[in-house]
Amino acid sequence: MTQETYVGAIDQGTTGTRFMVFDHGGQVVANSYETHEQIYPEPGWVEHDPVEIWENTKSVVRAALEDAGLTADQLAAIGVTNQRETTLLWDRDTGKPVHNAIVWQDRRTTDRVEELEAQGKVEEIRAKTGLEADAYFSATKAEWLLDNADPIKTQRARPADLKSRAAEGEIMFGTIDSWLIYNLTGNHITDVTNASRTMLFDIHEMDWDDDLLREFDVPEECLPEVRPSSDEDYYGATDPDGFLGAEIPVAGALGDQQAALFGQTCFDAGDAKNTYGTGSFFLMNTGNEAVDSDHGLLTTVGFQRSGEPVQYALEGAIFVTGAAIEWLEDMTLIEDAAESETLARSVDSTDGVYVVPAFTGLGAPHWDQRARGTIVGMTRGTRREHVVRATLESIAYQTRDVAEAMVADSDIEMESLKVDGGAVKNNFLCQLQADIIGTEIARPEVDETTALGSAYAAGLAVGYWDDPEELRDNWRVDREFEPDMNRDEADEMYDRWADAVERATDWARD
Ligand code: G3P
Repeated sequence: MTQETYVGAIDQGTTGTRFMVFDHGGQVVANSYETHEQIYPEPGWVEHDPVEIWENTKSVVRAALEDAGLTADQLAAIGVTNQRETTLLWDRDTGKPVHNAIVWQDRRTTDRVEELEAQGKVEEIRAKTGLEADAYFSATKAEWLLDNADPIKTQRARPADLKSRAAEGEIMFGTIDSWLIYNLTGNHITDVTNASRTMLFDIHEMDWDDDLLREFDVPEECLPEVRPSSDEDYYGATDPDGFLGAEIPVAGALGDQQAALFGQTCFDAGDAKNTYGTGSFFLMNTGNEAVDSDHGLLTTVGFQRSGEPVQYALEGAIFVTGAAIEWLEDMTLIEDAAESETLARSVDSTDGVYVVPAFTGLGAPHWDQRARGTIVGMTRGTRREHVVRATLESIAYQTRDVAEAMVADSDIEMESLKVDGGAVKNNFLCQLQADIIGTEIARPEVDETTALGSAYAAGLAVGYWDDPEELRDNWRVDREFEPDMNRDEADEMYDRWADAVERATDWARD
């Protein structure tokens, strides 16, 4: 009897690493998750240990297969999806990172970005990369690492050596997808979506940009090869003598937000999704056209299948949404995420309180690196329920900020917004979201769409699924939330939010 086969997906996120296995129907048959340490060496700095991430990856893959009673050779392919922009360098000889990875949330290169602004380089960067010059992206992180990486970890290199070693091809640059693909297959590869987040990649030419490499002094020799997100030539295969004990094709990779777009089967222009993770990332497929934003959105690569043209997307990147609920936990205002819903429902309103969770600055559409978290409107009668409710509302308001920009840029009225990510389990938040933006919210049955998207990309590449139509049939709604609030009331609340954002802007000093 032939064994049933499946597709595996490694989902390496900001807070943890997940391995999921999916069947033909896109249903989850195995799942394992582990968190990793968040390292905060200085205020505003955020790092991850890439070795811990790789160890956790192996461990969740093994655990998921074992728990579900599956063997590795039942995997037809593996896809990779990852926290984007997070940047590392590693030594080609030893395979060891030369420093911790600098996480997308890290603000250490804010000054460098302000220098670029002062030099009038922002327009050129936007025209080539589709990105708003910001410390969020990989370019200034790579530059910082090449200038400052700790020589002790490299054993042999002095910091000054690092750049010349990178120019000799001895040091490798990568985002987390590259790091995982390298460890899985031995090949130095990234996909088009991850490349598009480095601020070193021209999304029109679909190639590394010489001027930007020069600007940030990143040698071309240290860069990975850029490949389609779903690649019939495969990135490589796992080593049969390695941790899996089987030779499995690694054939798909997407940055996690693009993976969610793919997993939500947003294959056509106008299809949109919003993922509520650490931050929220609202992406709309714009087809083969890279639409420039006049309203503070990013133009980015949505995905590419082998032999097909690139599909672009507009993106509203909101830095802090789910992380604001974690912050409520850290502040002991709630015991766990579920309690946020109970407490928020226990009051009718926030009683005029607004929380702007600009802990790491503000992303789209404001782009203010120096904004900081702010609470306004408190009175002596303010209770934790109000602050909790205001924090949940901030997620919905920030989403409206980018939804309005999206409609203005694309001229497409959204009829429905597909949502996913941890926080959409919260029915209160989903209803609030529908009320605040005045659009139907559709929550799918499989809400782990990020992992699903990378499984789809890998599975299409190896012929496990025939075409995107088959995947569209897999998408099933769990629940739809219709807008229920009076529009004037929603608009009034939203206007006050805009006032609160004003107060959070440009706060941080050197
Ligand atoms: O751009 C950052 C994003 O990819 C991080 O996503 O889900 O790991 O917080 P997440």
